Amino acid sequence: MELNILALCYLLGSISFISGLKMLSNPATARKGNLLAAVGMGIAIFGTIFLYEENGAKLGNYAWIFGGLLIGTVVGFLMAKKVKMTAMPEMVSLFNGMGGACAALISIIEFRHLVHVDPVEYASGGYQFYSSLDGTKLLIILLGLIIGAVSFSGSMIAWGKLNGKIKDFSFKGQHIANLVIFGLNVLLAAFIIVARPEETPLFFYVIIFLSILYGVFFVLPIGGADMPVVISLLNSFTGVAAACGGFLYDNKVMLTGGILVGAAGTLLTVLMCKAMNRSLKNVLIGSFGGGNTSGQPGVAMTGAYKEISLSDAAVVMGYANKVMIVPGYGLAVAQAQHVCHELEKTLESRGVEVKYAIHPVAGRMPGHMNVLLAEADVSYEKLLEMELANEEFKSADVVLILGANDVVNPAAKTDPASPIYGMPILEVEDAKHVIVNKRSMKPGYAGIENQLFFQPKTSMLFGDAKKALQDLLAEIRNI
Ligand code: TAP
Repeated sequence: MELNILALCYLLGSISFISGLKMLSNPATARKGNLLAAVGMGIAIFGTIFLYEENGAKLGNYAWIFGGLLIGTVVGFLMAKKVKMTAMPEMVSLFNGMGGACAALISIIEFRHLVHVDPVEYASGGYQFYSSLDGTKLLIILLGLIIGAVSFSGSMIAWGKLNGKIKDFSFKGQHIANLVIFGLNVLLAAFIIVARPEETPLFFYVIIFLSILYGVFFVLPIGGADMPVVISLLNSFTGVAAACGGFLYDNKVMLTGGILVGAAGTLLTVLMCKAMNRSLKNVLIGSFGGGNTSGQPGVAMTGAYKEISLSDAAVVMGYANKVMIVPGYGLAVAQAQHVCHELEKTLESRGVEVKYAIHPVAGRMPGHMNVLLAEADVSYEKLLEMELANEEFKSADVVLILGANDVVNPAAKTDPASPIYGMPILEVEDAKHVIVNKRSMKPGYAGIENQLFFQPKTSMLFGDAKKALQDLLAEIRNI
């Protein structure tokens, strides 16, 4: 039996994707898992470039292929090197959008292999139909096109929203407009399949336009707290669109990769929905977090709150039995994870028990706080998931909130008018004292006021998290 080296490359690629993904589920092995999957992708890419043959001919076009690889590698490398941890979700959105665009481009190229349309020929009524029609192939081309284009434009909007350049936008009847666009797309796709593409080539290009428009309309109104769900959903779209490419080319590794991304993205979407206590339907048509009924983004809140001095905070924490730390997006902004770990060790050396309470959507990407704290070598056993943490708050003397806001906002439980109503939160008010560190009274990502800051148990410790923690640490070492 002849050894098919290319099939072996694809098998190795697939195995590395599956094992790499498995390793990503644990912070201790995540880096190695990422590297393993990247090596597998390299094997699959170079195997295809050098070993793939069709009708006895190799791929050729090496200048184009290596030119593209070089540009992509340099741009990707520089972006990944330069990106700040807090801007990672934006970059993930951008890269995800590129994946969707690639899948849509594959569909466009493959459609042109089925039907050749020359605008001049078309205007004069003559265009060529090249290959014999394969309905299944056409269906996959159209699926890849629609899902890929929606993922592309949706991810671009998500990218703009995460970096603050695009604001939530909706208009009356937007959901109806979305349904109409979606329905029209399905009808056009069905028509192309039934009526043969040579009869309907321009409809294909209308579908591209409508899919891009749908992606834009689909993500624009979804705001504030719901973005995590949308990002993981778009991720799964890109996976499914890539899997369509795998079907088209009968390429096993592309199929495996696409299905893994699609399945992982879908599972993450379900988990995110659970974390927000929302149904997917509600997220998609509810514009959760897009409204802003309880506060204005960027606008200082009013009301009476009390501040705590560094020395008082040091005494309260230094003589406590149990301190729970709630990390949030601000901790990542300040890059204060290392000094936070220092604080934990110093408190423990005084006999104080220290634990961390991790909300599933704290920060700006799934697992953000876990990654951040793992970077500072915080022991994984000290991180409590939301349900466990909510039990532990009851026996805590002090909760120290570091740059978290929405995930500790009691409006999620008490204010039905709040856009985050229903989202499970960290119930920090159950502890004896709550100390909140942030720079001002401005709201967090969802743009809503937080009554926790005005409660009698709560004291504000204003300042950048890194500086505040350094000063607090110095004070605690002096008592
Ligand atoms: P947020 O509600 O966004 O609050 C972060 C707080 O950190 C802000 O109020 C800000 O207040 C403070 N801050 C910023 N820089 C700081 C610094 N250098 N030092 C100290 N504080 C600083 O964060 P959260 O509680 O982690 O909640 C996450 C939010 O993001 C949720 O609404 C979630 O739905 C959304 N989201 C999450 C994800 C995922 S998957 N995790 C993805 C997209 C969106 P000041 O400006 O006053 O300092």
